[in-house]
Amino acid sequence: MSMQESDYSGMKVLLIPDPESVYLTTANLLLKAIEAALVYRGRAVVGLATGSTPAAVYAHLVERHRSGYLSFRNITTYNLDEYYPISPLDPKSYRAYMHNHLFSHVDIAENRAHVLDGTVPEEFAAAHAAEFDHWIDADGGLDIQLLGIGKNGHIAFNEPSRLSVAETIRLPTRLVELHPDTRAAAAREFGGLERVIPRALTMGVAPILAARSIVILATGAHKADAVARALTGAMTALVPASLLQSVAHKVTWVIDAAAAERLP
Ligand code: GLP
Repeated sequence: MSMQESDYSGMKVLLIPDPESVYLTTANLLLKAIEAALVYRGRAVVGLATGSTPAAVYAHLVERHRSGYLSFRNITTYNLDEYYPISPLDPKSYRAYMHNHLFSHVDIAENRAHVLDGTVPEEFAAAHAAEFDHWIDADGGLDIQLLGIGKNGHIAFNEPSRLSVAETIRLPTRLVELHPDTRAAAAREFGGLERVIPRALTMGVAPILAARSIVILATGAHKADAVARALTGAMTALVPASLLQSVAHKVTWVIDAAAAERLP
């Protein structure tokens, strides 16, 4: 595997030819951050992502667990987002995704695997979201946050908007409407555009940027445009991933050749 390391807007970018090596490299970066946190403070707090991209990363973590190399006994996790409203029993829920890809295969304590609750009554959604941010703080903050990127440049379900950069980097965890691009991307999974759940609870931009380190991965040519805009464009709320430039020193991108296609 030949890996090339570059710098875009102060962020470290690991350019890796094939997607399989992107997933392996990302799993190794997560493991390193977890090990460091375990040594440093006896526990690790990890932000997790869903979507098709990180699934193979979780397969690597499960394999390390099975081979006795990784225990989740002292790991707490916080997931980025969840559709709203949705039951955790719905196979399209992110709770179900995490159960299937990671939680059911490792020794994580049930009450330490946090996913925003898609069943909370709407009048309590704001309080639930605020509580989520509070729990992260009370846990001493995220040691590392794993991120994917949407085709439209979103991170978690923080969608492109016309807000100012200053307003956007302060966004807390909250209930949001999905962008039409995001609904279109989810149409196949939901069995038709009209069936896509149009809202979600998402970790805010603020708690994401507050993580001590951030690893963002992208594979495939359909992400090339968003990757180029986030890495080389101006910081703008129209491309939420570009706001990672504001905390550049702690961000590592791991991308394959196809996703890097539009980079200068
Ligand atoms: C979804 C998730 C994001 C994810 C993104 C990319 O909308 N909310 O957290 O990063 O889409 O998903 P994928 O990896 O399937 O392309």
